[in-house]
Amino acid sequence: MADSHRLVPVAVVTTVTQTHRPGVRGSAAAAIEARSLYRFFRAGEEETLALRGVSLSVMPGEFVAIVGPSGSGKSTLLACLAGLDDPDGGSVLVEGFRMSHQPEPARARLRARRIGVLTQSGNLFDHLTVEANLAVAQGLGGRSSRASRMELLGSVGLAERAGALPSRLSGGEATRAGLAVALANEPAVVLADEPTGELDSATEATVLELLCGAAGRGVAVLVASHSPAVASAADRVMRLWDGQIG
Ligand SMILES: Nc1ncnc2c1ncn2[C@@H]1O[C@H](COP(=O)(O)OP(=O)(O)OP(=O)(O)O)[C@@H](O)[C@H]1O
Ligand SMILES: [Mg+2]
Repeated sequence: MADSHRLVPVAVVTTVTQTHRPGVRGSAAAAIEARSLYRFFRAGEEETLALRGVSLSVMPGEFVAIVGPSGSGKSTLLACLAGLDDPDGGSVLVEGFRMSHQPEPARARLRARRIGVLTQSGNLFDHLTVEANLAVAQGLGGRSSRASRMELLGSVGLAERAGALPSRLSGGEATRAGLAVALANEPAVVLADEPTGELDSATEATVLELLCGAAGRGVAVLVASHSPAVASAADRVMRLWDGQIG
């Protein structure tokens, strides 16, 4: 049933995590965990080792930033964690369920129910209104609730824009709409790749507040970014260097 896909209430978990957020408690069980991930890309004679044994875990309620130079493997790592790509070695667990080395439909199901994904290029269908985009995301997770869609849009300040097409949104509005889509199924984990890359600093601050708010409600948030503001908003910063955690 839908409730079995919901986040475990933060109040029932036991062990305190590293997060500095007051009142946030975590569990000994990671929301998402990567164990020794490897990812190779081959183009002709050229081979790129994009990930070289990356291990990490993010606890419920933790906000972790991944930083590192261009080409260091941030997007590759997030794609493997989201199950949009499959690592060549190692494993990914989402709330204890294996994401890696599963058939694509199984990965898509696990992602739809437990992970919200936000990318810089956007996670919105252009021909659907903001609210319809949320409805599609909810449908993939096996739910549908207009009341929860409107509540979510209100929480990101877009109640008035529910009927707008993505092409009619500003960059900041589109990012907030994308975040609403990422949160549509009350995911355990939000993975965001450069969500604030094209935003001015005031709009970036709003998006960071929303991500911190999600972490405050127990969501594990992992954001890859070059932005110092993202790193300073995070509970923990992980640095990737040439496919390795440095
Ligand atoms: N589909 C692909 N085919 C071949 N090489 C790839 C592919 N995707 C990524 N790479 C290579 O893997 C390495 C890591 O790329 P990735 O996109 O993960 O870096 P990044 O840290 O996200 O960089 P940026 O900060 O510029 O977004 C790079 O050398 C890149 O060229
Ligand atoms: Mg990238």
